[in-house]
Amino acid sequence: MKPCVYILMFSLLLISCGQSVRHEAVVVKEKTNESEDPSGEYLYAKYTCIACHSLKGQSMYGPPLNTIYMKNVEVVRNGKKRSLVADREYLEKAIMDPDFERVQGFEQRLMPRPDIPEGDLKILVDYLVLMNASPD
Ligand code: HEC
Repeated sequence: MKPCVYILMFSLLLISCGQSVRHEAVVVKEKTNESEDPSGEYLYAKYTCIACHSLKGQSMYGPPLNTIYMKNVEVVRNGKKRSLVADREYLEKAIMDPDFERVQGFEQRLMPRPDIPEGDLKILVDYLVLMNASPD
């Protein structure tokens, strides 16, 4: 065979290999996207927590959420003042049932009751715990 035929065959082989590799890459990427959990940062924005709660220590419409994990928080429940530790359970309850008790100093401000599936709630609370551990 003439050399140019070899070159032609070789390039055809390269092209076909290239295509199959590309195809596999696409399939893998689609799979990862499907099974990937949304990030806490994404959910914090999606459920609009970001509009009322700072993660940098300032009060906005609501109290900051990066300074509370495992600290004492002062709340009012049924008109009675209480001091409790903001553990994971407290955070979940405060998110899912905001009317159950109110943070002192914020009693006149309302937090809307969000509609969050269990899986997303866990990711959100993990995110808050993480934000409490970081210095800023
Ligand atoms: C419209 C404003 C608003 C939105 C949106 C909102 N909150 Fe709140 N949140 C408040 C206010 C006001 C309080 C304080 C009054 C109370 O305790 O209900 C509060 C209280 C809290 C507390 C208790 C804080 C403490 O210091 O003990 C947590 C935790 C919390 N919110 C988490 C969230 C999360 C997570 C989201 C998003 C899913 C969210 N909030 C969305 C306004 C909001």
